[in-house]
Amino acid sequence: MEPDNSRNTSADALVVFGATGDLAYKMIFPALYAMAKRGVLNVPVLGVAASSWSLAQLRERAADSIKRDGAPEDREALAHFLSLLQYVHGDYNDPATFTALKQALGTALRPAHYLAIPPSLFATVIKGLGAAGLADKARVIVEKPFGHDLASARELNHIALSVFAEDSIFRIDHYLGKEAIMNILYFRFANSFLEPIWNRDHIASVQITLAEDFDVKGRGAFYESAGCLRDVIQNHLFQIVALLAMEPPAYQGYGAVHSEKAKVFQAMRPLQPDDIVRGQYDGYRDEPGVAKNSDVETFCALRLFIDSWRWQGVPWYLRSGKCLPVSAAEVLVELKPPPQKLFDDSIPAQGRANYIRFRISPDTAVALAARVKRAGKEFIGDQRELYLLEEQPGEEAPYSRLLSDALAGHGALFTREDALEAAWIVVDPVLVQHAPVHRYAPGSWGPEQADALIAANGGWHNPTVTK
Ligand code: BG6
Repeated sequence: MEPDNSRNTSADALVVFGATGDLAYKMIFPALYAMAKRGVLNVPVLGVAASSWSLAQLRERAADSIKRDGAPEDREALAHFLSLLQYVHGDYNDPATFTALKQALGTALRPAHYLAIPPSLFATVIKGLGAAGLADKARVIVEKPFGHDLASARELNHIALSVFAEDSIFRIDHYLGKEAIMNILYFRFANSFLEPIWNRDHIASVQITLAEDFDVKGRGAFYESAGCLRDVIQNHLFQIVALLAMEPPAYQGYGAVHSEKAKVFQAMRPLQPDDIVRGQYDGYRDEPGVAKNSDVETFCALRLFIDSWRWQGVPWYLRSGKCLPVSAAEVLVELKPPPQKLFDDSIPAQGRANYIRFRISPDTAVALAARVKRAGKEFIGDQRELYLLEEQPGEEAPYSRLLSDALAGHGALFTREDALEAAWIVVDPVLVQHAPVHRYAPGSWGPEQADALIAANGGWHNPTVTK
């Protein structure tokens, strides 16, 4: 599949706004170091932030972030990465900050500006870049969440598009940089056996679970402004739905994939309050930054429909939550049972019909489940899984993949304006209109009301993890 981005020239500098922040520390520095190890980081990296740090302090912070995972250090790559770092500090509201940045960029003509900053500052920085003449031939990489609802996403798109062209805006959803997710696209369209059954005639339901066994990890204040639906469902899980549900792209280019994904979001029925169950784990209200009477969800389960020729009537169930029993993400596509009951157990009273399971994390797998006969006189059997793929060593971490793509100008693994707004249209009605959260015990699978949502389709499949 070819990148068909008209601006796929490489950036000649990377500017990281928010260089002293958490995201830079946890994700960006390790990703840049990984790129340095692979020999693909060869442009100056300019950190920008408000703190009046010295360059030495920034380098120390970067080196410290890399040591965090305890892996043996590649000294040469680390030294190379640190030598590329520069630091500019200043208030994002002050034009002088952008003048200083322009000076520091020197002869670089095609910088990529990465906004690793709180969303409330996106517009300020984008406008500052435009006013300082730092947007021509440049691109901007924007972290999620892109907007807070439909209106704010539209406004942000409007501001971004008044300064940058659409193909110079790289909206990050790190799920698109995961191998297991890219494999959904590949698996669907590199094989022919799937297509005849991949529709409403053969598929009974699809469910996706992203379970996390930890709490908000000190991000209470962020969670209060986001909640689970905005944090992971409207973006990460919706991207998975789009790849599972899209039509074959019309040509061999990523633009075609973007267009087909956008159509899936456009065909999704906007959610109604009855389609969602929100939960909150006991103890969330004691987290720092969380209101004592918070109604923000740390768990969300929903049922959605895609009103298209292929998917009419097939329910899609999505679920995610903090403080669940395991950390794992899986998709289960359940097929309809055989039309005639020839064997006592061919339409199991309990248990599932045949299914296809995509394991997204912590390991990667695709499994096809089918019934096979047990030895003996009786015609009874068991459902067994055929494993198609397992963990692939050497997988590139999502942030490293996405950053190198953005620097190279390949927009395939980023989200497009029309798709993003269409996805917001789906969730917008329930962002405000919804029942209060149900409490759940940490370590449980969320509130029991979530089970009722999917009862008609055999209940939730709970991913397991072998410890
Ligand atoms: C982030 C969310 O976007 O995705 C987090 O803000 C969540 O709350 C994370 O934990 C999940 O990503 P991953 O790659 O760990 O499954």
